[in-house]
Amino acid sequence: MSNKILVIGAMSNVGRPLIKFLTNKGEYIKAATRNPSLYPATLGVEAITFDFDKPETYMPALEGTNRLVLMPRGLDTEPETTAIPLIDQAIKMGIHYIVLISGIAIEEMEKEGYGLLSLEKYLISSGIDYTILRPSWFMSLFIRGFINPKQKDRICLPVEYAKISFIDPYDVAAVTASTLIETGHQGKTYTLTGSEALSLQECADIISQGVEYNIPYIPITEDEMRHEYKTWGQMSSKQIEYMMWFFKGVREGWYTDIYSSVSEIIKREPITFKQFVEKNADIWK
Ligand SMILES: NC(=O)c1ccc[n+]([C@@H]2O[C@H](COP(=O)([O-])OP(=O)(O)OC[C@H]3O[C@@H](n4cnc5c(N)ncnc54)[C@H](OP(=O)(O)O)[C@@H]3O)[C@@H](O)[C@H]2O)c1
Repeated sequence: MSNKILVIGAMSNVGRPLIKFLTNKGEYIKAATRNPSLYPATLGVEAITFDFDKPETYMPALEGTNRLVLMPRGLDTEPETTAIPLIDQAIKMGIHYIVLISGIAIEEMEKEGYGLLSLEKYLISSGIDYTILRPSWFMSLFIRGFINPKQKDRICLPVEYAKISFIDPYDVAAVTASTLIETGHQGKTYTLTGSEALSLQECADIISQGVEYNIPYIPITEDEMRHEYKTWGQMSSKQIEYMMWFFKGVREGWYTDIYSSVSEIIKREPITFKQFVEKNADIWK
């Protein structure tokens, strides 16, 4: 019977807790990843191969499912070759509900041709039941290091002392689960933020207190940031320039507003940055 939920991005910071929330509620999941053999065996979860770059994986992934959690690939600038064909295939195969993980302030990003807004519009006009979630910047960005995994001992970004309404991806997962389990979220678009907006200096101070050694915040220039990314070698020039647009947005205050959607949907306050650091302190040790 087609009653499973296909979770794209099953291994992501959102996907992992989301699948736990859903299986705890008795849902059956197809967990999409490029490396299903790495997915931990979990009752009620079938790990399957899915790769946005391999359209031949779309149909087998969708088989036996009736709902889809669509997490576009991060910094995917061409949804017309990835997420949009997946929506088309999902509709063709009788999926009746799609939850799209989009992003905060994407209208501004659209000016750079980022593509997420056109993806939202495509989903809305497709006629399928949908919910769109627009999360702010994830707290988990601090875990890997904003620039590269080796830079956990300092935070360097070209955002001066501007503030961001960071959200724990665990809360994004909790909201996503609610939209799938409860009724009343169809046709809605929610912006998801934490309960406070913090500068990188404030974040560095909270991390330093939590791990009991100093992790400084060093505001850098865009050119210094470009140099760091190029040295890291994991991002295309186009992706680097998109990140520069995000950083410009931070400086201009696009990500400072606080929304109440998280507490309204999951009936508790969002996780604070301090709580996030406490639960992840080992990462910095
Ligand atoms: N990070 C943020 O601040 C932020 C803010 C707003 C929205 N979002 C959105 O939230 C979602 C999750 O972000 P995250 O930071 O939690 O992600 P993440 O932990 O960095 O994980 C990236 C995910 O993308 C998947 N992926 C990468 N390339 C893929 C491909 N070619 N085909 C299929 N899957 C692919 C990976 O799957 P594999 O298992 O195959 O590696 C993995 O599950 C994304 O859609 C992101 O755009 C993020």
